[in-house]
Order: sequence, then C-alpha cells, then structure tokens
Amino acid sequence: MFDFIKNPVSQIDTWIIGNWKMNGSLLFNEDYLEELLAKIEVMKFDPSSFCGLAIPNVYLFQFSNRLLDRNIHLGAQEISSEDEDGPFTGDISAKMINEFDCSFVVIGHSERRNKYKESEIDLVNKAKVSLKNNIIPIICVGESVKDRDQGNANIVVRTQVKQFTMGLKSEDLSNCVFAYEPLWAIGTGKSAEPEDAETMHRIIRSEFSEVLGVDPAEKIKILYGGSVKSSNVEQYFLQPGVDGALVGGASLNASEFCKIIDKSIRTTQNK
Ligand code: 13P
Repeated sequence: MFDFIKNPVSQIDTWIIGNWKMNGSLLFNEDYLEELLAKIEVMKFDPSSFCGLAIPNVYLFQFSNRLLDRNIHLGAQEISSEDEDGPFTGDISAKMINEFDCSFVVIGHSERRNKYKESEIDLVNKAKVSLKNNIIPIICVGESVKDRDQGNANIVVRTQVKQFTMGLKSEDLSNCVFAYEPLWAIGTGKSAEPEDAETMHRIIRSEFSEVLGVDPAEKIKILYGGSVKSSNVEQYFLQPGVDGALVGGASLNASEFCKIIDKSIRTTQNK
C-alpha cells in the first residue's frame, strides 16, 4: 500500500507510468515480466522517482508478488466511485485493488470519458475514494482535435481541472497527480510539441494556484501523455513544468519501457 506520509507525492520528482490499456495475456505477461525484472535488476533507480504500470485488473494477481519491492509500482486503470461493497455489477473497488498492492489508479482517461460518458462528479468521487484508500489518483485531462482547432483547448482543459480543484479539499488535491493527454496525440504517433505541453501544464498549474496559492501549486505533479517513446521522452522532461510521462503503447515493450524510465530519471537529475 502506498504511504502518503512516508512518500509525499510532492517530493517525488520523476513520474513514469505505463498504461497498458486493454492489452496483455497470461503468456504475454510472463514474457514481459521476465524481461522487465531482468532489466530493472541492473538499472539505477532514484528514490525520488515513481515508476509504475497500470495493467488490466484481471492480471493484478499475476503481477503483484512479482513486482513487490522491485521499483515498479502496480496500478489499476479504473476503480469504482463506490467505496463500500454492494450491488455494483462489474465495478472493482479501491479496497480490492489494494489487496494487490496497487499504489495508483488512472482516473478519467479520455478513452473512458468518451466511451462511458462518466460524469465529472463520478470522476471526483473516484479520486476521493482512491485517496481514502491510500491510492494515488492519476487524473487525466486533455482536449480533442476539434477543441484545439476551434481554439478551445485551454478552456476545455481548465474546465476539466476545475472540477477537481472545486470538488477536492486542498490537502487531497496535493496528493493527486494530473496527466495532460491531448486526445489527438494518444496512440497516433503525433506527439505534442514539448513547448506546447509546457504551455498547457502552466495553464493547468494556474488553476491550482487559484485555490492553493502559487507555491503549493508549483508542487503539484503534472505528467504529459500522448505518443511518448524513448526517442522523445527527454524533450518532455527537459521542460520545467513537466514532471512525468504517462506512456501507452510504448509501455507494452519491456525493453522500450525500461529505456523510457532510464532516460527520464537521467534527464530529471540533470535538469
Ligand atoms: P500512447 O502513448 O499510446 O499514445 O497512449 C497514451 C495514453 O493514452 C496513456 O494513458
């Protein structure tokens, strides 16, 4: 279980989270784990970095013991907004994923926002439930290509962030991690320009400063996601307002994911 007291989110400088989405199989996972474990054995991790993999829930059992104390946190891609067991068919609770040592959960990914039309209040409740159960919420925001083309990117992202700045207490907000994922960059190979990501991160941070004040807002962690790979990850980490990367497709290749981790940690150390 993640310990917010021992490891305040604000003190973790480098975040690299892999999101497998709906990928994997028992066999694929075994090969992946074998390669990943061999590679991380000889890698240098920084105590102020947080690396994690969000895998499909059905594979948590397969992964949890193998990743224990191995520098890669385990995470889920979704949880229920309900905290207590009950008649919620198909839902998986924060307590359940906690049993598999999940440290984090992805909330509000655009693929789910779009397909399941989750309400903003549901997303805020998911963040509350995960924090209550000592799980870091990785909250995704981002604009569509239409929003961007119409010049609405900033207002769309601001509005998404506002739901959380208004719905969560300040102390809870400080334990959340946000991920800016422009929809047009997800799975397209068309990553955002690092300077554009930086600009949006600054806009997101200005929303936090309205409720928290400037200094605490600076400490909120904001990741970039959208076609991140080992060949472009350094450019994002070089931006002052980019604290991490949320990696989709490239995290499905153990060797590529390890390269991303390695480059990210080294780039932050030299920032
Ligand atoms: P890709 O890295 O495959 O573009 O996916 C990004 C993403 O959606 C991570 O959550």
